[in-house]
Amino acid sequence: MDCYLIDGGAKLSGTIQVNGSKNAALPILAVSLMTSGRCTFRNVPVIRDLQTQVKILNTLGIESTWHGHEITTRVVDTYNSTAPYELVKTMRAGVCVLGPLLGMRGQATVSLPGGCVIGERPIDLHLKGLAALGAEVTLDQGNIHVKAPRGGLKGATVYLGGKFGSSVLATDNVMCAAVFAKGTTVIECAACEPEVVDLADCLNAMGARIEGAGSPRITIHGVRRLKGVDWTVIPDRIETATFLMAGAITRSPITVAGGRPDHLLAVLDVLRQMGVEVKRSGNRMTVVPCERPKAAELATLPYPAFPTDVQSPILALMSIAQGTSIVTERIYPDRFMAAAEMKRLGANIAVSNGQAVIQGVERLSGAPVMASDLRCGAALVIAALAAQGQTRISRIYHVERGYERFEERLRKLGARIARVAEDAPQSAVAAAEA
Ligand code: EPU
Repeated sequence: MDCYLIDGGAKLSGTIQVNGSKNAALPILAVSLMTSGRCTFRNVPVIRDLQTQVKILNTLGIESTWHGHEITTRVVDTYNSTAPYELVKTMRAGVCVLGPLLGMRGQATVSLPGGCVIGERPIDLHLKGLAALGAEVTLDQGNIHVKAPRGGLKGATVYLGGKFGSSVLATDNVMCAAVFAKGTTVIECAACEPEVVDLADCLNAMGARIEGAGSPRITIHGVRRLKGVDWTVIPDRIETATFLMAGAITRSPITVAGGRPDHLLAVLDVLRQMGVEVKRSGNRMTVVPCERPKAAELATLPYPAFPTDVQSPILALMSIAQGTSIVTERIYPDRFMAAAEMKRLGANIAVSNGQAVIQGVERLSGAPVMASDLRCGAALVIAALAAQGQTRISRIYHVERGYERFEERLRKLGARIARVAEDAPQSAVAAAEA
């Protein structure tokens, strides 16, 4: 297995281009199940999770071709409507084929995704929404079966709020299933994330009639069929934020190009509170670094508030800020795995009851650490960029689930990072640069 070796302390410079959004592309690819037409999806990041999603779609009768960041799909048979456990267990987002399959084929079986390292991740809201449209939901041998009634799904009003607020993929699933339901469906307490809007816009381009995406009330008027589509996925707001953190922590005026600042207002606001200005010019964001960032306080909440997926990366920045920062995690209260690893780099973070208190230290120092999940891995890379000495990050396959050629792109900015075998010598960073 490979790891990252990072020699901290290098200043970064230049421009980095943001890729398409992982979390928009995952459900959007699944709409290829909802048409017999040919679909082309552009700006799809070449990352592990998308590769897994394509494999799931292939098992469901979709033929696909990748050309760089472009994927073309077409349904070639509709015989199998079961998403296999071997694939869904590696990526929870596999569950987003449930709504498209139920809507189009009248039934679907997906293995129940278990918990994951960021905490319990139930799917009760997905099932509640599908049941409200008339689907029969059964659980058998770890699989969820959903089946439309004889006359097909029927539009309904469904409240999709849970104890942690709205749910992105539940909104996606119910919206997709409702596209083919008879009559009108109203989703109340719908997730407002830009990824939900991108999915709704893509479905509308295929002939769906969805109104209100981006607000807590989405109305879907049922249609009989959808046509193929040529769709360009929105830029990844989490990747954009991650690169901004890399600029901020290394105090480097890098430019992140191709992102959507309007999707990142909460992150930009917290950075401003910390003394890190981000100059915007169209879709280009340039970090105006400060000497040492100031502490800040934030809570993660559904969009448009601060995203949980940027919580670990900003923890890295807060760990070297002046003063005491407080981060309250209101989406996944157990998502603080990064904190324990960052302590190994010298960060002073105390976690209890879904809250992290970060006492900023003057500097971090390199150490061997382990990525426990995707965003934890990204946060460790950011922390390591600013740490004194060398950091070895193992289990980087987590990072590669969500960031395409992460080390290569950071190296182009001047980061001293190499992707090497687990037992490579310390000198491997210099060798990679040569
Ligand atoms: N929830 C329920 N019941 C449900 C579904 C969710 O109680 O049926 C709870 C969750 O436990 C959580 C909250 O609702 O506390 C929000 O979860 P949500 O359903 O919105 O998460 P998701 O749709 O499964 C997506 C992203 C995650 C991101 C969350 C929150 C994708 C593929 N995944 O997951 O992304 O953290 O929304 O914004 O879109 C990541 O990219 O690293 C990642 C984990």
